[in-house]
Amino acid sequence: MPNSFLTQSNLEPAEPRVEKVFQRLQGGILKGHGRDHTVQLFFRFPGNTAQAKALVKALTAKVTSMTQQLADSAAFKSGETTRPFCSLFLTAKGYKALGFSAAKLAAAFPEPPSPIQLPPQVKFADGMAKHGPELGDPAPATWEPGYADAAGAAVIDGMVLLANDSLPALEFAAWDAGRILTSGGAETLVTQAGLALFNKDKSQNLEHFGYVDGRSQPTYLKADRDREEHQLGGVSPWDPAEPVGRVLVPDALAPAADAAHSFGSYLVYRKLDQNVKGFKSKEQDVADALGLTGVAREVAGAYAVGRFEDGTPVVVRDRDGLNLPVPNNFVFSGPAGADPSGGKCPFHAHVRKVSPRGDTAGDPDNALERSHRITRRGITYGTRAVEPKDDPTIDQMPTGDVGLLFMCFQASIDNQFAFMQRAWANSVGFVKPGTGLDPVIAQPAGTVPVPQKWPNPYGTPAGATVGFESFVTLRGGEFFFCPSLPFLKSL
Ligand code: HEM
Repeated sequence: MPNSFLTQSNLEPAEPRVEKVFQRLQGGILKGHGRDHTVQLFFRFPGNTAQAKALVKALTAKVTSMTQQLADSAAFKSGETTRPFCSLFLTAKGYKALGFSAAKLAAAFPEPPSPIQLPPQVKFADGMAKHGPELGDPAPATWEPGYADAAGAAVIDGMVLLANDSLPALEFAAWDAGRILTSGGAETLVTQAGLALFNKDKSQNLEHFGYVDGRSQPTYLKADRDREEHQLGGVSPWDPAEPVGRVLVPDALAPAADAAHSFGSYLVYRKLDQNVKGFKSKEQDVADALGLTGVAREVAGAYAVGRFEDGTPVVVRDRDGLNLPVPNNFVFSGPAGADPSGGKCPFHAHVRKVSPRGDTAGDPDNALERSHRITRRGITYGTRAVEPKDDPTIDQMPTGDVGLLFMCFQASIDNQFAFMQRAWANSVGFVKPGTGLDPVIAQPAGTVPVPQKWPNPYGTPAGATVGFESFVTLRGGEFFFCPSLPFLKSL
């Protein structure tokens, strides 16, 4: 029987049913943890099942519930130092190492076919390495060591994510988690640090190409939607609220007594390396092709991303500066559509590819488009001599070893992340024939790119033609499940 909780949106933490769910749910899913530093420990369980279970129990003591996350965040706002945030994730391989049979896992993670099923289905049960052909990914044998074995097979059983604003406190927590893993007989395969980047006044997160990131997200709490409505620019025509079923699924392996209130979520993790110099040079090529001069050249990058570096949506205007607050209340097509022809924000722009906001034919209320929405919780990684906020010259920009630890939660990997990557970003024919690839994230393996068309002047589609893609490279990744606390405690 479907769990009626999943149809709810705009949750109020004090409501009794919500309270019960939040006590059992890991933090970070319905709301980002918001910390500036992270460490992720990817590990393989010891061969002995009882030892693996004991290890999960020991790690579970560190995990932050949603209830705790909200309390910590309130304490932080009133100036208190808070404990490190912690989440624990398992792969399908990890569940097997904990003694669950293939049949038990198939029943617990049903992964029903998607409404538009692209063959073959991308499944949590298989792990990410197996789905390279569908996602256009480089071969797992070329990934960084620890994410797959030399033959390209999956090796990871689980991942601990730690986050805090205090680096010394985080380093201690990472040392402590590493100690628990080692003494529990596990092998730490990868230790990956994340470090948030900010704009000059620290009001927004940036990614390494220099753009405000993390602005447009589904909201699940009433307080978060209220903030959008009253402080951040409104919720019509674009309402950010989603039902929790967009991101949560029942945790079928939770003990029966807790079943009605135990939920989890699928997590996709991808280490995406960014060639900043290559991307920013290509922006200049587009500006040259459009004959732009001076500050007007900035619009070239905005046409690739869909927003200016300061977050101003290019669909709203042809120059930056509309960032207090950064707008998100717009749709591209439909009755309130700001740009049905793609003359302001080209159809290939990253934000338009991954969130078409009304462009899909035959989807008048956007229900189909919205069903693919993901909940992004990534963080940047890598250090550089000159940060994006300090306006580096082209020669000061890195060609790699910096990027995004992309993470997103969803109720179905196939219908959400994988659909977005393969049917939208990697498809030259989405949203219409000749659109071209997403210039930011397309993985063109197996696809023949077609040069994208760029507005010229602003408002006029298809003014110039320039090919733009492939400055982001997958270095490793995996599919995880974020189990409920009652399940973790039951082992
Ligand atoms: C290094 C890789 C990436 C970079 C540099 C990047 C950059 C950005 C930027 C600058 C924005 C606009 C700000 C915002 O609304 O948050 C954005 C939005 C977004 N990105 Fe990415 N992104 C990357 C990877 C991905 C991947 C792999 C996906 C999914 C397959 C994705 C999905 C999205 C979505 C869904 C949005 C919000 C769109 C909206 O609702 O308007 N991104 N990204």
